[in-house]
Amino acid sequence: MRLTRCQAALAAAITANLLVLFYVSWLQQQPRSARTRGPRRGAAAAAGPQVTVLVREFEAFDHAVPELVDSFLQQDPAQPVVVAADALPYPPLALPRLPNVRLALLQPALDRPAAASRPETYVATEFVALVPDGARAEGPGRLERMAEALRAEALRPGGARLVAAPVASATPARCLALNVSLREWTARYGPAPPSAPPRCDALDGDAVVLLRARDLFNLSAPLARPVGTGLFLQAALRGWAVRLLLDVTFPAARQPPLATAHARWKAEREGRARRAALLRALGIRLVSWGGGRLEWFGCGKDTPRCFGTVAGDTPSYLYEGRWTPPCCLRALRETARHVVGVLEAAGVRYWLEGGSLLGAARHGDIIPWDYDVDLGIYLEDVGNCEQLRGAEAGSVVDERGFVWEKAVEGDFFRVQFSESNHLHVDLWPFYPRDGVMTKDTWLDHRQDVEFPEHFLRPLVPLRFAGFVAQAPNNYRRFLELKFGPGVIENPEYPNPALLSLAGSS
Ligand SMILES: *[C@@H]1O[C@H](CO)[C@@H](O)[C@H](O)[C@H]1NC(C)=O
Ligand SMILES: *[C@@H]1O[C@H](CO)[C@@H](O)[C@H](O)[C@H]1NC(C)=O
Repeated sequence: MRLTRCQAALAAAITANLLVLFYVSWLQQQPRSARTRGPRRGAAAAAGPQVTVLVREFEAFDHAVPELVDSFLQQDPAQPVVVAADALPYPPLALPRLPNVRLALLQPALDRPAAASRPETYVATEFVALVPDGARAEGPGRLERMAEALRAEALRPGGARLVAAPVASATPARCLALNVSLREWTARYGPAPPSAPPRCDALDGDAVVLLRARDLFNLSAPLARPVGTGLFLQAALRGWAVRLLLDVTFPAARQPPLATAHARWKAEREGRARRAALLRALGIRLVSWGGGRLEWFGCGKDTPRCFGTVAGDTPSYLYEGRWTPPCCLRALRETARHVVGVLEAAGVRYWLEGGSLLGAARHGDIIPWDYDVDLGIYLEDVGNCEQLRGAEAGSVVDERGFVWEKAVEGDFFRVQFSESNHLHVDLWPFYPRDGVMTKDTWLDHRQDVEFPEHFLRPLVPLRFAGFVAQAPNNYRRFLELKFGPGVIENPEYPNPALLSLAGSS
């Protein structure tokens, strides 16, 4: 059998591929210590680079990455540099062909081994410096000084786990305080309390950030973009502080990236989309900047609500150790306020019921882990309200997009936030019989019981969800009748048999 030239070339290519694959898997199997503490570091530790320059934050369509890489190579031709991108940058990135300069493509691909998409595969030094596009090295020693500063921090109790040096760009780094609450799906930024040298939880603006490779690659999403947003959220949650160095500054690129208005516009648009996707992926639904500025990343009027059908009265987020997403609480408050406005205008007598009354009695708001709002109404008043009359016949979308309908589970009404977002207020019609409020269908809930009508005569105003609603008089006794004694003082999840507040915290 004769081999054609084409077949021979194919065989050679396959062999070459196999060799590369074999080499990478061999590298993977070497004990880590052999790789990091190999012959280079022992004797030549002082001379050999200890820091890998990692370039992740740049726009493929307009950047100054070659200038950045060259500037570090001018300080030390052996400087390890890794440029990380999701996929092959386009237009192609011109990097020097040197063994210490590598392009890491993080997106999995059919033809690459698993290790190729893991950034830690490319880093063998103790430290990593995340260098933003638009920065440049000039004069030796900056990275070494940063590494020294980090070593000194490690010796101090409560020392910082990251050190940062500003880039002299148009937006140099600024120190921020950051509190992350997973339970509340919230990140709160504010000005960092003054300290010298500055100690921050997060940075705004351009900085080179240096940390131990082992710390960086132990994060769940080490190189998710925007790198700063993701890195500082994960660091703050672990209590890792950032020391902002005042005596090390990196110069800005001579040919700064994104110099045109169009490039900036495009970068900002893509940056916003990436940031929203990252915050959602990390479970942050609300970012608060202090002074009342809020950014919402959760469900809205035209998206589904952000949790699925509730089973056993225990919504999915409780099992994740979280409370109601803030966007859902906001939508519930808005729906409750709207429904109460409609009922009051139509002359339908209503009152806060169940968990909603409990929340109002405790702290004037929806219980922070509740997933709906309950109101009682007088059955005989239903006819007064156009939306409720409509709901008797089918579902009605009112002029503000709320959906009024008869619930499928029984004889009560439900008002949904929107057609796509099914966060809702339930309206339970009761009628008086011999001084007792009753109804015809009952759900299997402890609080779903008859009660004396005198609790409704008169109704009393009570602060709830940002407005004033009507509530039963003597609501403490009303709640204890429904839920049992001490219910106001002793918060508990809706179904403690499945998941209890004490057991989950
Ligand atoms: C973070 O939490 C601490 C302690 O509760 C508080 O003193 C500080 O003001 C909070 N900072 C921000 C930015 O929310
Ligand atoms: C990685 O993080 C976990 C906690 O998140 C910690 O227990 C572990 O020691 C860390 N590993 C390294 C190598 O730092």
